[in-house]
Amino acid sequence: MKFFLDTANLDELKKGAAWGIVDGVTTNPSLIAKEGVPIEDQIRRICDIVDGDISAEVVSVEWEQMVRDGRKLSKIHKNVVVKLPLIRDGIRACSILSKEGIRTNVTLCFSAAQALLAAKAGAYIVSPFIGRLDDIGMTGMDLIRDIVTIYRNYGYTTQILSASLRSPMHVIDSAKAGAHIGTMPFKVMEMLFHHPLTDKGLDQFLKDYAKAFEEAPVR
Ligand code: E4P
Repeated sequence: MKFFLDTANLDELKKGAAWGIVDGVTTNPSLIAKEGVPIEDQIRRICDIVDGDISAEVVSVEWEQMVRDGRKLSKIHKNVVVKLPLIRDGIRACSILSKEGIRTNVTLCFSAAQALLAAKAGAYIVSPFIGRLDDIGMTGMDLIRDIVTIYRNYGYTTQILSASLRSPMHVIDSAKAGAHIGTMPFKVMEMLFHHPLTDKGLDQFLKDYAKAFEEAPVR
């Protein structure tokens, strides 16, 4: 499974990229707004840090404007993937941009029916939001499992990006369900490293080594 960071924060991206395990980045208008830098500039900076798919979202809800914005965003860098909302105009814009060879990420997907629409429109990526479904009392992960089954049944090549991941369990369950990509906030990626037995074991290894050699009397 590919790991994407769900952030537009450059410090977080630099730290994550240094680990060598970040395959791409997702942003959305809220994440870009948080950084206070216009989207074109921020996406350019992100492309300099991470070499992988970088999702940049349009902010229009009208297909002609989405197509214009999508073409513009795709020119920022070869790695840019144009993010479009899963509404009628978004699907229409996705069909047009996909036919032009511009890669798209259809976002705000909350049902298998919507995921089918994205695949049929030629989306490069579809983004089902797991955490937000959990928030309203549903089992978000069921959606990933349904989309994996449906796409396999028909050989759709649209990649399933498990989004709105809030915990390491969300990441693991997405991987078990067969999602191609998991996008997560920096703090969730950091949490993947943690295990008390790793810390305890390492502490003991280092203590044993120090006792045997570093504290040995000098001859
Ligand atoms: C994905 O592309 C979205 O930016 C993101 O995963 C949304 O997550 P949230 O529900 O935590 O805001």
